[in-house]
Amino acid sequence: MKKITAPKGTDDILPDDIYRWQWIEAKAREVAERYGYREIRFPIFEHTELFTRGIGEATEIVEKEMYTFPDRSGRSLTLRPEGTASVARAFVEKINPGTLWKVYYLGPMFRYERPQGGRFRQFYQMGVEAIGSAAPALDAEVISLAVDFFQNLGLRNLMVEMNSIGCCKCRPVYKETLKSFFKDKLSSLCNDCQRRFQRNILRILDCKRDECRKISADSPSVLEHLCLECREHFKSVQKHLELIGLKYRLNPFIVRGLDYYTRSVFEIVSEHLGAQSALCGGGRYDDLIEELGGQPTPAVGWALGMERTIMVLEREGVSIPRPRLKAFIIAIGKEAEGRAEKLLYRLRRNGFSADRDFQGKSLKGQMKQADRLEADFALIIGEDEIKNDVVSIRNMLTGEQKQVKLELVENELKR
Ligand code: HAM
Repeated sequence: MKKITAPKGTDDILPDDIYRWQWIEAKAREVAERYGYREIRFPIFEHTELFTRGIGEATEIVEKEMYTFPDRSGRSLTLRPEGTASVARAFVEKINPGTLWKVYYLGPMFRYERPQGGRFRQFYQMGVEAIGSAAPALDAEVISLAVDFFQNLGLRNLMVEMNSIGCCKCRPVYKETLKSFFKDKLSSLCNDCQRRFQRNILRILDCKRDECRKISADSPSVLEHLCLECREHFKSVQKHLELIGLKYRLNPFIVRGLDYYTRSVFEIVSEHLGAQSALCGGGRYDDLIEELGGQPTPAVGWALGMERTIMVLEREGVSIPRPRLKAFIIAIGKEAEGRAEKLLYRLRRNGFSADRDFQGKSLKGQMKQADRLEADFALIIGEDEIKNDVVSIRNMLTGEQKQVKLELVENELKR
């Protein structure tokens, strides 16, 4: 029979790897809660119009990357490609307008992208959203949360890149300026950028192709086209970053791929990922709540990719503590098995992680298994041990072995 494989761009996270994820997720929760953010879980699928309206019709995500399907009633649903639209929808649906709402989430997102280094079709994000304030100090807070998180993981070579893309007042003017700049250079741009010229001109600025980058390098900077309010806001964000001692670099080419952004946008990049991909991206989205039917409510947030975080951890050589099994119990002979089984449950009930063989393996095979499971101790019960009412305890790290009275096993494991 032909074997069935996982769909392209998806992967299993096997038990031998899951500890990395659990370690990162625990750190994510710890940092977010230290900053006063609480967890939200929202649906894996939503009505398609949430994303078309929220993320924007002319974005690559909505145009090409969504997993959209009719459910049995014929309603169009979409697997969530990101979390911000859902969080904004939940805010409008469930939370009193005027509340300052700080939430974080962890979970899978889905985009039909071409899988390659650090890009998948099902990938995991951690994200935070702070809804209900335009205060520049809040932009600085969310950025600091991301940086603290990465530093807590032990990552070092990261850079925060900042930009402001203005608001609905100043951006249209800037877009016109860009149009005049690119108009007579269209034929030198890549095909995608020629389309972007019509549909989403800002995205030409973050095209990664050399020919487009060369042309964009001389384009008018968005930072020189901000209205007074946006300029003041961005200046104040930078002041707050400096006040709390966060390093950043201005990068006027960061425009982000989702249409809901206003004012501050930022990415956190690692030299270990290459220019193609950011580890974390986010910004303000002061108009999204209103766009989704709520009252005008400013907001800011970001999301980071868990797979990319793990890749960078590996490349920076950060070692992640692997949980170990405390005891693997080895029975030699029929009579020993009953005693081994009793001891196994006694240890588990007393709070020790413990396991044994269920496949009738030889002593050698069981020792190997204890090794593979990274047990701290192998507890061996054979004829001798039964006769003397003891257990042989072998320290798997040092190889040292001694006999201990059956009732004193727990004390020995605690040492
Ligand atoms: P995004 O830039 O589309 O933003 O995604 C954020 C992060 O998710 C990326 O920096 C990357 O690490 C990871 N990521 C995105 N696509 C993939 C993929 N196909 N495979 C692996 N990792 C991926 C957002 O999603 C916004 N919702 C962020 C945000 C929150 N803005 C405001 N609040």
